Amino acid sequence: MIDIDSGLNYISGVFPEMDHLIWLGSEEAKRIEVAVKESAVDKGITPSEFEEIIKQAIIDGRKIHFLPPYRADQYLQLQNLLGLNVSAIDNYVSVELIEAVVKMRSIKTELEISEMEKAANICYEMHTTAMKMAKDGVSEQEIVGKMEGIAISKGWGTSFPIILSKDGQYLHNHFHGNILKNGDLLLVDAGAETNSHYASDMTRTFPVSGKFSERQKEIYEIVLKANEETIKEVKPGIFFKDLHLLAAKIIVEGLKEVGIMKGDIEEAVRKGAHALFFPHGLGHQLGMDVHDMEGLGEKYVGYNKNVKRSKQFGLAFLRFAKNLKKGYVITIEPGIYFIPLMIDMWKKENKFSEFINYEKVETYKDFGGVRIEDDILVTENSYKILGKKVPKKVEEIEKFISENN
Ligand code: GLY
Ligand code: MN
Repeated sequence: MIDIDSGLNYISGVFPEMDHLIWLGSEEAKRIEVAVKESAVDKGITPSEFEEIIKQAIIDGRKIHFLPPYRADQYLQLQNLLGLNVSAIDNYVSVELIEAVVKMRSIKTELEISEMEKAANICYEMHTTAMKMAKDGVSEQEIVGKMEGIAISKGWGTSFPIILSKDGQYLHNHFHGNILKNGDLLLVDAGAETNSHYASDMTRTFPVSGKFSERQKEIYEIVLKANEETIKEVKPGIFFKDLHLLAAKIIVEGLKEVGIMKGDIEEAVRKGAHALFFPHGLGHQLGMDVHDMEGLGEKYVGYNKNVKRSKQFGLAFLRFAKNLKKGYVITIEPGIYFIPLMIDMWKKENKFSEFINYEKVETYKDFGGVRIEDDILVTENSYKILGKKVPKKVEEIEKFISENN
């Protein structure tokens, strides 16, 4: 709690009593004392002192600014403190406070960046372990377990539930029950949190056999080009929505060469025809959360007064669209997916048939999906990819797998 008028900061928590010492041990029980010291706040207070201060402020007619709650217990606490009905609380969140926090957290300090490098390096180990383990006959679950183990042994744990699937066409597929076999393409999207809770988030897609088939390579190279070409453009002042559209253009261009798409590239992107294959956004901010600050509302985090969210299918899912600034950390994660249900739906409607060669698409329904994601720091004039480089080019991946077999 920050008292804006007096400038005093408070942190509220439970102070150790005998019960805590018996059940949790002295270290755990000392957490609030440590938190006071480490966060350099002025004062540690108990929850009832916290409540008293807020209630007095209300009596004094002072405005209470609070951020959007996202857990049921926080809604109940706010109901109790502010006398607001739970269903009305969202209408009273403070836009001023949200904007101040977004401004502060979007630009990462050197200390934060060094924590994020650590998170990215744990991520490197998780991904390279997956590349070493994935083989014909191995279960997805076994690889997920090893990766989680790395995240827990090197930091706080994973930054979100691991996405690891031979059915990579489903964007956030958390089913890990398949046994891998040669010929499968495995999509792994995973990240770690450091002990200080800074996150990483990377995706790699690679063949279980260790060797891309011609068809897999063709699609992979398109996504790789979209990933590399958009990363190269990163610098302060670049409008992230333009990078998203650049990725979409590269994807249409590549799919045209393969014969899956056709027609005018710019027009296909403008109308959103590429979204059958690339239905999500190019990336998001990364920080103390994997979709950093998402809980504060994407309309403040990824958008603002001047940058409004599109309603077009595909572009509407872009989480972050604003101009880049020095110190921002973002992900770049283009993908191409063949989602059988969606293909059937669009085909039935003959949707964008001037841009999509449905006959050819039919032959890709068993393909799966490819996504390639890196974590990028915006620097003074350009960018830096965080963490040790996880193999990404076709030759790098094939070499790494064959050397670690
Ligand atoms: N890593 C999952 C996502 O960015 O949505
Ligand atoms: Mn991501």
